[in-house]
Amino acid sequence: MDGPTRAATRLDRAWEALAQHRDRVSPLHLRDLFAGDPDRFQRFSLSHEDLLFDFSKQRVTTETMALLHELARAADVAGWTDRMFSGERVNGSEGRAAFHVALRSRSTAPMRIDGRDVMADVREVLDRVRAFADRVRAGEYVGATGKPIRGIVNIGIGGSDRGPAMADQALAKWRHPGLQLRHVSNVDGADIGRALAGLDPETTLVIVASKTFTTQETMTNAATARAWLVGKLGEAAVARHFVAVSTAREAVAAFGIRPENTFGFWDWVGGRYSLWSAIGLPLMIGIGPEAFDRLLDGAHAVDRHFRDGPLDTNIPVAMALVGIWNTNFLGARSHAILPYDHRLRRFPAYLQQLEMESNGKGVDRDGRPVRHATAPVVFGEPGTNGQHALMQLFHQGPDPVPADFIAAVEPDHELSGHHEILLANMLAQTQALAIGQDEAEARDAMIKAGADRATAERLAPHRTFPGNRPSSSFLFKQLDPYTLGRLIALYEHKVFVQGTIWGVNSFDQWGVELGKTLAKKVLPELSLDALPAEGQDASTAGLIAHIKRTRVSPSAWIGPSGSPAP
Ligand code: F6P
Repeated sequence: MDGPTRAATRLDRAWEALAQHRDRVSPLHLRDLFAGDPDRFQRFSLSHEDLLFDFSKQRVTTETMALLHELARAADVAGWTDRMFSGERVNGSEGRAAFHVALRSRSTAPMRIDGRDVMADVREVLDRVRAFADRVRAGEYVGATGKPIRGIVNIGIGGSDRGPAMADQALAKWRHPGLQLRHVSNVDGADIGRALAGLDPETTLVIVASKTFTTQETMTNAATARAWLVGKLGEAAVARHFVAVSTAREAVAAFGIRPENTFGFWDWVGGRYSLWSAIGLPLMIGIGPEAFDRLLDGAHAVDRHFRDGPLDTNIPVAMALVGIWNTNFLGARSHAILPYDHRLRRFPAYLQQLEMESNGKGVDRDGRPVRHATAPVVFGEPGTNGQHALMQLFHQGPDPVPADFIAAVEPDHELSGHHEILLANMLAQTQALAIGQDEAEARDAMIKAGADRATAERLAPHRTFPGNRPSSSFLFKQLDPYTLGRLIALYEHKVFVQGTIWGVNSFDQWGVELGKTLAKKVLPELSLDALPAEGQDASTAGLIAHIKRTRVSPSAWIGPSGSPAP
């Protein structure tokens, strides 16, 4: 038997063993698992310094974890990890490395791609970004009329927006008090309109962040910001008020941005893994280079934990494996991210791109259909807001929604009473999900509260909580740049491990391309002068026609046939 066949057979056996195990353990209820094992919390929680990952409320046993570890071994997670950390071209469909770990390497060891150490380039750009951020923060970088910059508008989308926007909110406490930072991503004019409103072009710096410098939304917003600036300060001001973060130097120069205001990165940095690169410029201007360094330190600490730690104490591996268990064996198709921390309110959106763009794939690395479900739908809300919206379904809906709860033990504000309530709610939610409340308990609770027996009987089914719903909890001392770096890196590596086990390439994103191409075809067809759309399906042609008809009769409601409604 050759190597790949032997590996495939071992992988098949590992999947099969887990499927058989699932049939044996799925009747077990978390309530009984906790009752039968006083050490369950110790057994199923891991830590990295002050960060605790508790997965004891996942529906796993010691045997489940052992079988999942065998699955990870059979999928050669360790080998793929080595390949990623060694700068191999693990992004096969684009022929690129995925070397974001080099961006936050704090070690003196070389990080090579094709035998060439990239660390000199990484440090050179980081030093330039640092120096630039320092000058803006100190008021030394001035605009065309000699005034210091006070407003920064970052224009980007996807990975060129979500990281800086999320981290800027999360680390607002570190933000320079004299600077306003705004993030624009949507091509909806309302977004750039909001971002520029109230800013003075003389004191505004626009960062155009785009790896490719071709993304329609970003280039449209950048052109609008440029016109806004030129309208007041003239063409010559562009060079002082615009900077770019991109890999496409020529396109940046054609836009009128000077080489000294251009901060590069490399094709081996994927968009959703780029916060650590010059894409972090707006964040670094906001929080300062020292705090940004702590973010990198945190990510690097997790890189070491992930790369060097044994499988069974490895947090990203455990996160990935319980996710695989839920998705592929317990049938969950979604995954909720619930930060009990208002500062992390964009974290679910950040992880949405990280997980869904990375692992939402239907073919494996070799282009064959995948045999298992891949990335779940990721969504979330900060606690406690989510409790008043999503969580009804989590507790009583027919399908389980595994959830990650995330919180800092200590707040960064003085309202400690609020924080106690916040934490109490988080723990209570995880408990209610896991343990639930059976019908007899529901009935007894109502009777104890004064209800008559008939009412209690009638309402008991509505007030029953099945429980046995999986969740994990993350607790850390404080949310600071170091811990945010750790959290992001934990999820990055989780996604990588899952992608490896599913056999997909986690670093390409071909699924976003078709819509982009079709939008270019639809765009001219929306013009009133355009002939009726040809080659469009009936729905799209009908929608185009409806938009055009509505435009010529803005005040009248038009029926679907094109005639005015009676
Ligand atoms: O959504 C597709 C995507 O290519 C993302 O992967 C990327 O983060 C985003 O668009 C923005 O791309 P760019 O930085 O090239 O403008």
